[in-house]
Amino acid sequence: MRRFPIILISSMIFVTSQVAVADLANEMLTEFQQQGIQADASAGKRLWGAVFVDKKTAQQRSCTICHGDHPGQRGKHAKTGKLIEPMAPAVNRERLTERKKINKWFKRNCKWTIGRECTAQEKADFLTFLIRY
Ligand code: HEC
Repeated sequence: MRRFPIILISSMIFVTSQVAVADLANEMLTEFQQQGIQADASAGKRLWGAVFVDKKTAQQRSCTICHGDHPGQRGKHAKTGKLIEPMAPAVNRERLTERKKINKWFKRNCKWTIGRECTAQEKADFLTFLIRY
């Protein structure tokens, strides 16, 4: 019985740190929701793995060719070969912690991969897929 408070306290710390990890992403999801957007993790997952063909080069492109199939694992940049640390905040606490960084990479990566900027719905789907991973 004396162990109980220790377990309780450590699980409280664990829960608190898990919440803190995805704080910003959750805040962004709330903002999307206020615009009437319901994030869908399975749509995010599908889009993550979807293959698009670049019109100019006929190259096949996907989020996974740089980030890997699973956001919990490391990826490798398709052009430079550089390692990319895992995208899931549950595995990599530095992910999704800076709004500017998230927006910058969404813009660049959506354009490069899909050939256009992502819609708010798609961004919300990606975010919820990544934080639930
Ligand atoms: C050509 C390679 C490449 C492709 C394809 C790519 N990314 Fe990225 N992405 C990167 C790199 C490089 C970074 C920055 C890496 C770092 O911070 O370590 C990044 C960062 C990000 C971030 C910011 C993460 C953070 O730390 O806040 C998000 C979100 C993201 N990518 C989403 C996507 C999505 C969604 C797709 C598919 C539509 C995609 N990426 C496709 C290379 C790519």
